[in-house]
Amino acid sequence: MPHIELRNITKKFGDFVAVDNLSLDIKDGDFITLLGPSGCGKTTTLRQIAGLEMPTSGEILIDDKVVFSSEKAIDVAPKDRGVGFLFQNYALWPHMTVYRNIAFGLENLKWKKQDVDKRVKELLKLLKIEEFPDRYPAELSGGQQQRVAIARTLATNPRVLLMDEPLSNLDAKLRMEMRAELKRLHHETGATFVYVTHDQLEAMTLATKICLLDKGYLQQYDPPLTVYNRPANTFVADFVGNPTMNIIKFSGKRKDDHTAILSHKSMTLEYASKDVLPADLSEVTIGVRPENVLVTEHGGIKVKVDTSLPSGMETILNLKLDDVMLSCVMIGSVDYPSDSLISVLFKDESVLMFDKAGKFATSGSVKFI
Ligand SMILES: Nc1ncnc2c1ncn2[C@@H]1O[C@H](COP(=O)(O)OP(=O)(O)O)[C@@H](O)[C@H]1O
Ligand SMILES: [Mg+2]
Repeated sequence: MPHIELRNITKKFGDFVAVDNLSLDIKDGDFITLLGPSGCGKTTTLRQIAGLEMPTSGEILIDDKVVFSSEKAIDVAPKDRGVGFLFQNYALWPHMTVYRNIAFGLENLKWKKQDVDKRVKELLKLLKIEEFPDRYPAELSGGQQQRVAIARTLATNPRVLLMDEPLSNLDAKLRMEMRAELKRLHHETGATFVYVTHDQLEAMTLATKICLLDKGYLQQYDPPLTVYNRPANTFVADFVGNPTMNIIKFSGKRKDDHTAILSHKSMTLEYASKDVLPADLSEVTIGVRPENVLVTEHGGIKVKVDTSLPSGMETILNLKLDDVMLSCVMIGSVDYPSDSLISVLFKDESVLMFDKAGKFATSGSVKFI
């Protein structure tokens, strides 16, 4: 199974830079998600790997073979890149049965009848649609149609599967089910998956590695939990996670290499890290995940409950601290009345610091003083 390499890929539409000098190394068998807000360059990146869009400059390799190079004037046709695509609008052929929808591409490639039959049956089983080979697309649910589309894409055994928001037309419950199916499929086929989504939860749950883009720039390329726990900058910190990370700006004064006093309005805290703190602490940003805001009986800082939203398994608390709204997630059901006062602290070692430019600096612990 192949490994994909993007080297300094830039794509311009006129003067507009849609993808800016992107380099990515996608390992054999990886499940990569291209994640980012609408318009950040996800689809353009995917289409360039597929060969449907020509980069302005750079090089793309699939399995160590150059499939695109602006310098060497190489541009291998999409059909010769060994990739399968699945797009958001995966229109099945309405006048063909499920069986024929899957078989059609193989027949076009002049596969022998018994080989086509064997392959279609394998796929029907793999995608759990073996009960209805003779139905027409209109007789299937959205999720079943989606599976047929996936089976059709997989039929020729593509070494790489490129998917552009393939689940966005499905309802929430079905989307959850299909996510699990895709993960299983990745495991069973061993193919390299590149998957576009703007949904951070989808990216987190599916990927072996997330490639997070903003305005055509690579923000971070790391496994999901690294992106979650050690976001490269404040954009990533804010984009990943729900409820979003608590992000507060402070002005700081260094006490020594590892400790500083940070203040925001009436809030003052001592920040301590094992790492050496940034030289310039005049403006720093502190980030705390909602699950690391802990309600406490002793110490901490007093906050006013704005709203408490119990949903059974967990409770989201919106808390007011000066002009800052803090969110806190607790396991289980608690229901604090609005305007009641409680105390919270931030879990040790979970408090991220970003420097003046918004880049990740360190993680550490705080004491409210
Ligand atoms: N064919 C095109 N001509 C001009 N601009 C384009 C074209 N395709 C995409 N763009 C622009 O490039 C940017 C990235 O688009 P796209 O890759 O589709 O974003 P995403 O998939 O992340 O939402 C957008 O600003 C989009 O408007
Ligand atoms: Mg897109």
